[in-house]
Amino acid sequence: MEKWRAADRLLKFSSRFASAVNWNNSCKSKQGKYFYSVATTVHRNPLFSSISPDDISYFKTILGERGVVQDALALDAANTDWMGKYRGSSKLLLQPKNTEEVSQILKYCNSRCLAVVPQGGNTGLVGGSVPVFDEVIINVGLMRNILSFDKVIVSGVLVCEAGCILENLISFLDDEGFIMPLDLGAKGSCQIGGNVSTNAGGLRLLRYGSLHGSVLGLEAVLANGTVLDMLGTLRKDNTGYDLKHLFIGSEGSLGIVTKVSILTPPKLSSVNIAFLACEDYTSCQKLLLEAKKKLGGILSAFEFLDSDAMSLVLKHLDGVRNPLPPSIHNFYILIETTGSNETFDKENLEAFLLHSVESGLVANGVLAQDINQASSFWHIREGLPEALMKAGAVYKYDLSLPLEKMYDLVEEMRVQIGPAAKVVAYGHLGDGNLHLNISAPAYDDNILAKIEPFVYEWTSKNRGSISAEHGLGLMKAAKIHYSKSPETVRLMIDFDYCVFELLPDTSCLDDNHSIICLCLSA
Ligand code: MLT
Ligand code: ZN
Repeated sequence: MEKWRAADRLLKFSSRFASAVNWNNSCKSKQGKYFYSVATTVHRNPLFSSISPDDISYFKTILGERGVVQDALALDAANTDWMGKYRGSSKLLLQPKNTEEVSQILKYCNSRCLAVVPQGGNTGLVGGSVPVFDEVIINVGLMRNILSFDKVIVSGVLVCEAGCILENLISFLDDEGFIMPLDLGAKGSCQIGGNVSTNAGGLRLLRYGSLHGSVLGLEAVLANGTVLDMLGTLRKDNTGYDLKHLFIGSEGSLGIVTKVSILTPPKLSSVNIAFLACEDYTSCQKLLLEAKKKLGGILSAFEFLDSDAMSLVLKHLDGVRNPLPPSIHNFYILIETTGSNETFDKENLEAFLLHSVESGLVANGVLAQDINQASSFWHIREGLPEALMKAGAVYKYDLSLPLEKMYDLVEEMRVQIGPAAKVVAYGHLGDGNLHLNISAPAYDDNILAKIEPFVYEWTSKNRGSISAEHGLGLMKAAKIHYSKSPETVRLMIDFDYCVFELLPDTSCLDDNHSIICLCLSA
């Protein structure tokens, strides 16, 4: 099924490739990359070098003329994130074609104390994929070969380079009778290396789990150029630490992922989608519990949006119609089932829906009758980021919260903000993941002051996570203490230094023991 076509157009210029990294071993203890909220000012550490003509010549000897990009238009796109919220001033974009070139680039940058930022499709939402200052951008988009796909013994193991676009992998596997265990609205632009580096979640996590489960191995290049071959394809391997997990979700802070091996499930023939309306949040929660009980093994997505989210999509996305007219309901739920028995699966979902209506959990609902209707339902949910962008400025928060508390935050935020902005909520309810968006006509420090630190404190108090799936990036690295204990943060820093072969330097802890230079460089 084609999803998020419209969104893909917008996402074309962005990336999810992790990292918010300025690295360089030899400068690590002296310079951190400071992560901040939008209003915070950060300063470039002068200990990092600036690009010289000799550097450019050297890179050309490694990559050829085409791999060394200095064109203003291309640099502008690579310096700016998808939301237009984070903007760097890099003068150099490097496009390696293989692991060896990545290794040579990093080795050289390390020796010259040049800060780098890895970049993939640039679809990230937390300012992790673009430079903050003049870092060298390393974009792995030319590394897009599928290296192998093993379906002979029905193993479904795909091995590919980091720059493969997720949608291309989905199409490739579709022809082979398999699917990616990962699906995102940004699939038309995001790259698998970035997905892995950020541990991207998305729409199928409910069914197939996180990438920590499906990534079997990876290859990564460290800041000093060392290539770590962890590209195993085995389901089981208990020989020592499973270090690949440190690269999944570390946002490029430990190295650049260059290859990935991933376990892909077989494609199942029967997919059904229902779009439902609930009048209160308690009904949404109960419906989820019922869906888990009654649809069990075939449940593949359970997404929600509230009435403000629906109004926004109807207003800003071309061609979208209210699937349950005439009025707008308080909440909407999108349920997808995926199984192998068409008759049974459909009957099962229909019986579930009937029971949900009779018991009063669902106020209204519709089952997609064909692929077009199914796509139009998905488009409503997946089109939300695009609709928010079209509506003006957006403050995005991606939170994991206990299910029963999740919507309390939305309501409290509405009281907190008042009429100055709209609070729009949607997300992966089945995974306890709320996307809380504050939509305003323009970015405004007064609005931000009402949102932060309130949103982080609330989340922390309720033992949630301030980043469910988007990562820390530039936006939230300094906020990590809201979700992780000082001891845990300390160990992360020690580990980071260990990878960079340096002794820990406590100067990178601020007064709250938060990380201010976790994902950095050197
Ligand atoms: C989504 O689920 O739509 C994405 O994570 C993007 C977003 O949060 O807006
Ligand atoms: Zn999401």
